[in-house]
Amino acid sequence: MIDATEYQQRRDRLMAKLGQGTAIFPSAPLAVMHKDVDYPFRQDSDFYYLTGFNEPEAIAVFAPHHEEHRFILFVQPKDPAKETWTGYVTGVEAAQTEYGADAVYPIGELNEHLPQYLAKSDRLYYHFGHNESLNQKILGHWQRCLALYPKNGYGPTGIDDPSFLLHPQRLVKSAAELNLIRKAVDISVEAHQRAKDLAKPGVYEYQVQAEIEYTFARHGATSAYPSIVAGGANGCILHYINNDRCLNEGDLLLIDAGACYQYYNADITRTFPINGQMSKQQQALYELVLAAQLKAIEEVQAGKAYNEFHEMAVCVLVQGLLDLGLLQGDLEEIIAEEKYKPFYMHRTGHWLGLDVHDAGHYKATAEQWATLQPGNLVTVEPGLYISPTLEPAEGQPEIPPEWRGIGIRIEDDVLVTATGNEVLTAAVPK
Ligand code: GLY
Ligand code: MN
Ligand code: MN
Repeated sequence: MIDATEYQQRRDRLMAKLGQGTAIFPSAPLAVMHKDVDYPFRQDSDFYYLTGFNEPEAIAVFAPHHEEHRFILFVQPKDPAKETWTGYVTGVEAAQTEYGADAVYPIGELNEHLPQYLAKSDRLYYHFGHNESLNQKILGHWQRCLALYPKNGYGPTGIDDPSFLLHPQRLVKSAAELNLIRKAVDISVEAHQRAKDLAKPGVYEYQVQAEIEYTFARHGATSAYPSIVAGGANGCILHYINNDRCLNEGDLLLIDAGACYQYYNADITRTFPINGQMSKQQQALYELVLAAQLKAIEEVQAGKAYNEFHEMAVCVLVQGLLDLGLLQGDLEEIIAEEKYKPFYMHRTGHWLGLDVHDAGHYKATAEQWATLQPGNLVTVEPGLYISPTLEPAEGQPEIPPEWRGIGIRIEDDVLVTATGNEVLTAAVPK
């Protein structure tokens, strides 16, 4: 659990960067499933990171320069009749005591109260998202401030996206965040184990999916993303989520599934033969992906450029494909001309945290990759995908049929530490 002090520290760090600026973060909207039924609500990650407040129709304002109120919340007011249908609402009073805001107003009073927090700021920080009506409202407030500037001599002169201030913070995980991620990992480890025990010829992909998601639910978790349970050639479809095919003798099964526990995610992929036995070709490709992954993980170190583990994975994969005769030519040329891409078309990882593809930049400048630092969490997930329809790059050999229909990915969650790294997901066998 993330305690109130940590939320306060997160806000203080943001506000130190805001200076005379004002930042506005809206909650996520409710998404309609059909007619008058909504999807389960999931809070916007930035909003949640800063407040821990888990309700829609809310806005957080940060105004460190304001005389009285630095952290302001606008929330749904209590409404017993509505709550009978859709559940508990915190309301204005409790939001102030429970979430540490200096002032809380009903969301319907945004137009009335927002101006005082904007008027003396020198810059507005707001992310223009999908909520068009809010976008227009915020623009309107800013334009009114601009119109008053000549007379007042103060006011926000521009609008910036707050992600540049906030996301570097989110990239470094605290001890409390890592505890939640470790819990999500533990649940996912159990789910992968149970899935492996269940998978055999005649079982449907969705039955394996059910076992995984039952395990998540039993531990109070949900799926971090739609589970990928891909037998045989389905493993070549990167985001295969139909999960509706029967597993056959001789199939490899690619499972990419992770739990989300109290908003923090795990992201794990394993590929294994459902009858315990791999063909020669399956084994050769599996060993190659595993070798690439192990070498790539070694590159996940504080001080290294973000891209190094990807480059290492590509290098090992290409050399292996050359050795197997599935590519031909010069290693460096193949990499420079991306002739390996029919086999390996995605990058080797991403930041992980509150979002599965977590917030944060991968590049420091146009030329320079971000530098890994202790507390960063990345996935390392090389793969090889020889789909039945794969077309080799120009000048490359045809793929014999026995290699086709094999899709393999191995994915672990790797924490950058002061002395190296820790593979959080090591308990799922490879
Ligand atoms: N499961 C999504 C990903 O691995 O990025
Ligand atoms: Mn994944
Ligand atoms: Mn991933």
